[in-house]
Amino acid sequence: MEPYSILAKYYDKFSADDCDYGAWAQYLLKIASSCGAAEAADLACGTGKMTRLLVQAGLRMTGIDVSGDMLNVARSKCRAVFVQQDMRKLALTHPTDMAVCVNDGVNYIHPEELVAFFAKVAANLKCGAPFVFDVSSPYKLREIIGDKVFYWDGEDETLLWTNRFAHDSVRMDLTLFVREGDGYRRYDERHVQYAHTTERLADALDTSGFDLREVSDCYGKELRSDSVRLTFYATKR
Ligand SMILES: C[S@@+](CC[C@H](N)C(=O)[O-])C[C@H]1O[C@@H](n2cnc3c(N)ncnc32)[C@H](O)[C@@H]1O
Repeated sequence: MEPYSILAKYYDKFSADDCDYGAWAQYLLKIASSCGAAEAADLACGTGKMTRLLVQAGLRMTGIDVSGDMLNVARSKCRAVFVQQDMRKLALTHPTDMAVCVNDGVNYIHPEELVAFFAKVAANLKCGAPFVFDVSSPYKLREIIGDKVFYWDGEDETLLWTNRFAHDSVRMDLTLFVREGDGYRRYDERHVQYAHTTERLADALDTSGFDLREVSDCYGKELRSDSVRLTFYATKR
């Protein structure tokens, strides 16, 4: 099945407890306020976890995601414009004040498509506007989750998550067993995430018209060699 089709219904339940969306939102809102942003685009918004927090803080939000199933969940959460679109072909109705891409969205972009993707983001931003995104670090993808199996065992659904790391990418095979009647139905999805180095992302941002302002550990903390989430804050030149 397409990535995030069956997972959409369970994403919020299964997604990691170590994701402090409240703290991440504070970091984003500080940047929004420093540049007077009134509206923003949440790229790869998924089920709208961050979109909702930014709407609650007063920003007019457009959520973009390629998965209609994830967007259906997002629509039930908050009043924002949600558009099903591949962000590599991003086309907002007008240049916006800020773009964010939270919790691994950029890990789904193939290395050879990074420059074109960032250039699309730039084309949809006003001059000087911030673009903030995070990636799971190469260290996390290779050392922490690559070649490992994880599981969640819930009352009515069980998820098996099997990873294979090779050639700077992780192939993630997700198998979900959902209780139906007296038995279980099985669903399978495959995701691929790419391990982008800081140098690769910095070069791609520069080539596509962004000035890199800050790279931090998980939305504003000091970088470490074993940081698992890297946050990039850039502004359109
Ligand atoms: C790990 S989820 C993160 C969702 C959300 N940002 C959050 O914080 O929960 C990754 C999301 O990226 C979306 N995605 C992957 N590739 C995409 C693309 N090319 N264009 C738009 N969305 C994409 C997936 O559909 C999924 O919703």
